Amino acid sequence: MFTLKQLPLPVLEAQLAACQAELHTRLGPCQLRLLETDDIPALLGLERYCFSPRLAFGRRRWRNLLAHSGCQTVGLWQGEQLLAYLCLFPHLGWQALEVRCLAVHWHVRRRGVAAALMGLAQGLGQDIGALSLRLEVDADNPAACQLYAGLQFVPVRHLPDYYGEGRHGQRLMCQLGGGTWPVKRVMARPSGTSWVAARVACWLAPSSPCSVA
Ligand SMILES: CC(C)(COP(=O)(O)OP(=O)(O)OC[C@H]1O[C@@H](n2cnc3c(N)ncnc32)[C@H](O)[C@@H]1OP(=O)(O)O)[C@@H](O)C(=O)NCCC(=O)NCCS
Repeated sequence: MFTLKQLPLPVLEAQLAACQAELHTRLGPCQLRLLETDDIPALLGLERYCFSPRLAFGRRRWRNLLAHSGCQTVGLWQGEQLLAYLCLFPHLGWQALEVRCLAVHWHVRRRGVAAALMGLAQGLGQDIGALSLRLEVDADNPAACQLYAGLQFVPVRHLPDYYGEGRHGQRLMCQLGGGTWPVKRVMARPSGTSWVAARVACWLAPSSPCSVA
């Protein structure tokens, strides 16, 4: 397994393009791209309405995540409006891709945006050779719990008081590789040659860390 930042750019771009095509069918024109520190005001704007101040990352943490960490954060845009974000961190010890954060704007909820972004996480996890996706969820967040249960995540650890006194968390895991994953069914396969070209370029690069097979 290697980190997301070592993933060859064409492979990353192919994954983003496939997910964007899927989201386009659900939302109309939209753009999916990696977020940078310039995007922090938009991130904070959405985060403020999606998470309580106790759970929100805040400016400093986002700056650190975007500028200095091994995380990659993907944002979904419609014009100037950030509609959703997904923050991913490769955990080499667990050989897992961690979903650090996922949020969807309330105007576009229940339209498959989160499921499509989790499909992107699945694809990227497989591309970097992760064995599983992992995340922590507030046990009192029915929408998120339902989302992950539907994607066949299973609880691997109860986290007492993880989100504050009396607010328990769950660590969830979903195996990657080989098996069928529900999101596969809703993800559009990339059309044309860009996907193939990206993967072939990746396979042919002698020093590429890519492990797609
Ligand atoms: C949780 C969240 C990301 C879901 O985003 P979404 O784009 O609306 O989710 P999807 O449309 O992809 O839903 C996929 C499935 O998840 C489940 N689900 C999503 N929202 C749900 C809700 N409010 N109640 C019950 N089930 C829900 C459903 O099974 C849904 O499938 P269905 O619509 O066919 O029934 C969104 O509500 C959100 O941003 N919440 C605030 C931030 C947050 O809690 N993030 C998760 C942190 S771990």
